Amino acid sequence: MPSERVAIVTGASSGMGLALSRDLVNRGWKVAMADINPNVELSKELGDKAEFFKCNVADYDSQAEMFQKAWDKFGRIDALCANAGIVDRSSVYILDHRGSNKIPPKPDLSCTDIDYKGVVYGTQLAIHFMRKNKTPGGKIVATVLNFIRAVSRVLKIKENITTHAVLPGIVHTNIIPQAMIDAVSSEALTPVSSIVSAYNRFLDGDDSLNGEALECAADKQMFVPRPEYLNGGISKRACTVWDPLFKMYHHELSELPDAIP
Ligand SMILES: NC(=O)c1ccc[n+]([C@@H]2O[C@H](COP(=O)([O-])OP(=O)(O)OC[C@H]3O[C@@H](n4cnc5c(N)ncnc54)[C@H](O)[C@@H]3O)[C@@H](O)[C@H]2O)c1
Repeated sequence: MPSERVAIVTGASSGMGLALSRDLVNRGWKVAMADINPNVELSKELGDKAEFFKCNVADYDSQAEMFQKAWDKFGRIDALCANAGIVDRSSVYILDHRGSNKIPPKPDLSCTDIDYKGVVYGTQLAIHFMRKNKTPGGKIVATVLNFIRAVSRVLKIKENITTHAVLPGIVHTNIIPQAMIDAVSSEALTPVSSIVSAYNRFLDGDDSLNGEALECAADKQMFVPRPEYLNGGISKRACTVWDPLFKMYHHELSELPDAIP
């Protein structure tokens, strides 16, 4: 079974997504490589084990079309590696607007649209398609922590989907300016291979692991601890699902064993 597994990797044309796609193909996976910029050479190199799909993850319809094409091509989706991302393009500090009486221009939130909304869109689409797998379920690994932790328990119980986060340190890819790489001592750089291995720990790991995050810093991978409830049971009560509210929004009960009825 594992040799036939199918992964969607977003942001697959460069950096971590490229390294991950190559590694997955070498380990027997089939990979739907999704990116806004095609990397035709790479998809040729990977042969029939990989197919490139042009997709803008910030656009729900574009991601939906990519998922549908990947499903039509491979007939199953076992994993979503929601890796596509950019760096922030706007400055909330508006330092160059000092002294102006004009309202500052609207911030460019493409980073939120791609790095965050793109993961939410991908998660919803993965749920839809992973339900149709012969054995329903799958794995989602993304680079955003809190959303992944928030959805992990309900997705495990209701959909047999585990969700995890990989949190990269400074990795020498196209997203980081060369001058920044030059300014960082080599021992503070995280190799791309460490990111790939963190993805693999989740993709190949035991299903009892869920909602975890691995911080990859230089040669270390560390599980990120869950924050404590600072005011004990009172804080916990505020963070625990109240099933009537859950039902109001989701039209069924959560099935969480600790939900408040
Ligand atoms: N490199 C680092 O040090 C670092 C650190 C922390 C987090 N990250 C995150 O890791 C992920 C991978 O980054 P990387 O370092 O490999 O960068 P990269 O620039 O090498 O690769 C990112 C890929 O995402 C694609 N992409 C960008 N916008 C897209 C969109 N709207 N739709 C589809 N694809 C899109 C790009 O075309 C590119 O191929 C990103 O989410 C990034 O924010 C990187």
